[in-house]
Amino acid sequence: MTVARSDKTILRALAGETLPVPPIWMMRQAGRYLPEYRATRAQAGDFLSLCYNSELAAEVTLQPIRRFGFDAAILFADILLLPQALGAELWFETGEGPRLSTITGAEGLRALKGRDDIHDHLAPIYETVRILSRELPGETTLIGFAGAPWTVATYMIAGRGTRDQGPAHALKAADRATFAALIDLLTDATVEYLSMQVAAGAEVVKLFDSWAGSLKGADFTEFAVEPTRRIIAALKDRHPGLPVIAFPREAGEGYIGFARATGADCVALDNSVSADWAAANVQVDGCVQGNLAPQHMVTGGQALVDEAQRIVRTFRGGPHIFNLGHGITPDADPENVAAMIAAVRSA
Ligand code: CP3
Repeated sequence: MTVARSDKTILRALAGETLPVPPIWMMRQAGRYLPEYRATRAQAGDFLSLCYNSELAAEVTLQPIRRFGFDAAILFADILLLPQALGAELWFETGEGPRLSTITGAEGLRALKGRDDIHDHLAPIYETVRILSRELPGETTLIGFAGAPWTVATYMIAGRGTRDQGPAHALKAADRATFAALIDLLTDATVEYLSMQVAAGAEVVKLFDSWAGSLKGADFTEFAVEPTRRIIAALKDRHPGLPVIAFPREAGEGYIGFARATGADCVALDNSVSADWAAANVQVDGCVQGNLAPQHMVTGGQALVDEAQRIVRTFRGGPHIFNLGHGITPDADPENVAAMIAAVRSA
């Protein structure tokens, strides 16, 4: 039986509906905590080969849907594929994380491709989306995604993940014009990338701004709020009614008014803010998602049940999608995921 778009619980919550039981999905729900993911990844070779193998990327996206019946599937890919499509070199050091060629000034920026030159490189990602929109159960919503410009820029400038995003802050201070031009290029390219995901079948898109919390004051407005607002406005212009989730991780006070300022339909909450605070200050503007500390997926037990149910009850007065405050970690126990879902559905 086909389920009408309007019957999908995630789409209803994103449209502002308060539901008796929140729909559920999890950041990094396809990942190393699942033995079936590890097996498919081994078959693909390495992580990037898995991302660019449309059949296998679709397979790992479907694995947590089959196992847990989540209400949404998120495309299996990575936020760093867009810089790679723009011409940056990208590889993953085992046990350490991503490495990229670095952008240290105007010359590095000039060497990148234009916003419209990314699609040949990203064609396998669009194919993964097409496979998923065919193969997902009718009630499951397909979420596409990209990194937000600031977060992607922090990796492109440093060439790796950093604790304090020091190199990006340094370039912003030393050569603001080059820094701002990089943010502009990423903003435009992200619109093109997400627009193609939507054309291929993504029903919702999410912007991951994992390092939004290190932008303060006017910088937060200029480099987190404004690029997000521009991306959302352009996408909604091309795809009227497209729901967008924004994740300005660790934005703190920056969460207040973020949905209004950017046009996001849902704001994803990390686990550093309290649910009570977020219900009063963020959910007043629309749907919220997230907040459960990923560590509970490792430790489980009654604390997991109590905390999951407390979050459900705290957000019960408005639109809410249940999720973690950040990605599930490789040491998590799949049994705890099942326990979390049961706790949420019986809260
Ligand atoms: O959520 C999902 O399941 C969808 C797929 C997805 C991945 N990465 C797969 C992945 C998404 C949405 C991302 C986003 C992403 N990637 C972010 C933003 C969200 C966040 O976590 O803050 C960032 C910063 C990246 C960059 C990145 N990719 C890093 C820093 C790492 C290494 C850290 C790690 O967990 O190993 C990755 C690798 C990565 N991306 C993995 C997965 C499943 C692990 C790769 C593996 O199998 O070894």
